Amino acid sequence: MKVIPVTSADELAAALEIRYEVFVDEQGVAPDSERDHLDDDPRTLHCLVVTDEDDFYGGTVAPGVVPGIATGPPPGTVLATGRLIAPHTDVVHGEGSIMDPANPHIGRLAVLASARGTGAGRKAMEFLEAAALARHGAAGGVRVELSAQDQAMPFYEKLGYTVHGDGYLDEGIPHHDAFKDLGYASAASAFLMR
Ligand SMILES: CC(C)(COP(=O)(O)OP(=O)(O)OC[C@H]1O[C@@H](n2cnc3c(N)ncnc32)[C@H](O)[C@@H]1OP(=O)(O)O)[C@@H](O)C(=O)NCCC(=O)NCCS
Repeated sequence: MKVIPVTSADELAAALEIRYEVFVDEQGVAPDSERDHLDDDPRTLHCLVVTDEDDFYGGTVAPGVVPGIATGPPPGTVLATGRLIAPHTDVVHGEGSIMDPANPHIGRLAVLASARGTGAGRKAMEFLEAAALARHGAAGGVRVELSAQDQAMPFYEKLGYTVHGDGYLDEGIPHHDAFKDLGYASAASAFLMR
């Protein structure tokens, strides 16, 4: 599988389709809340995780297929999405959130139920983190923040995120904020903790 940046209206529609399936249909988020103005902000980066040739010929997405035989999903099948919000654009959150609007935020991470546990979520996060560092890490590092559903927190912790602040409800779903320092700051702290 691979991650691509969303660059067309069709790709944004594909991203929104996944989000509606996961957050609205599966989790019960109000349809009106799912799409917001940040989706159309030109500083927002959306990504799609899509299958590639390896998945077509038996990769992690359709385990059990015979390697070398094309029985997996066709290349380009959309599996997951997420978005990176630029500093100073994401100012409204669930009551209780302490995310700093001055930091870039990652959000709306959604993997189709059929593709969970295949590494799609991790791939999307690595892509968005690399973009955060490239776009907003001019000083050599940057702190990214996110508002995580509690059930997904073990996933974020595995990727190096640290919970901060108290829990709160957003759309009736328990959340906590979490952050990760990217760039030299994280390298330095990893060194000091050895
Ligand atoms: C949470 C979510 C994004 C994870 O994506 P995923 O593609 O299933 O996760 P990955 O396969 O990339 O997993 C990466 C690692 O995290 C672990 N992990 C994933 N979800 C986990 C969870 N809920 N609890 C504990 N560990 C989890 C995996 O086991 C894997 O560990 P490993 O590296 O030791 O093998 C996905 O389950 C999802 O979209 N859920 C519904 C929507 C949602 O909750 N979005 C997040 C809103 S904040």
